[in-house]
Amino acid sequence: MLRVGVITASDKGSRGEREDLSGPTLSKLVQEIDGEVVEYVVLPDDQTLLEETMCLWADQLKLDLILTTGGTGFSLRDVTPEATLSISDRLVPGIAEVMRMESLKVTPKAMLSRAVAVLRKQTLIINMPGSPKAVRECFAAIAPAIPHGIQILKGEASECATTVKQP
Ligand code: MTE
Repeated sequence: MLRVGVITASDKGSRGEREDLSGPTLSKLVQEIDGEVVEYVVLPDDQTLLEETMCLWADQLKLDLILTTGGTGFSLRDVTPEATLSISDRLVPGIAEVMRMESLKVTPKAMLSRAVAVLRKQTLIINMPGSPKAVRECFAAIAPAIPHGIQILKGEASECATTVKQP
């Protein structure tokens, strides 16, 4: 079972002016990779608050996976990627590349998301855009590889080769 945290970054959501639908959508989706959401919060688009929450969940709670939704676009208030990069130990460019690549098949606006994926200690942190539709599309693109990546991060798997049947 993967221990997952979900952060929705939304000024309106944090003020109770907009119902957060993306966070609950992610909570359902993570069940597909045997994940359980053990922490969930709606935060304003505030870089310090986002950084502090991600650090707490990674360092103290030692969550396996943190998924953020929202705050990845061009608005001057969109700072989720900046917060994520500033607390990152290592980058995982492939995850964001695949999310954008697959999302571009659905909408050209996918290129407007500045989402990043990083590692902090033994936690994988992935940004996603801020709509239920976008999180469904992004999650579908990366889900097949996430459990294996986390196993390697945790030192629970070292062998990547799969047995391929010879013709
Ligand atoms: N990615 C997918 N898969 N589906 C979408 O509908 N919307 C895009 C983009 N990425 C979208 C997507 C749009 S319209 C924007 S503005 C950016 O994500 C940034 O969204 P955010 O500011 O909510 O993070």
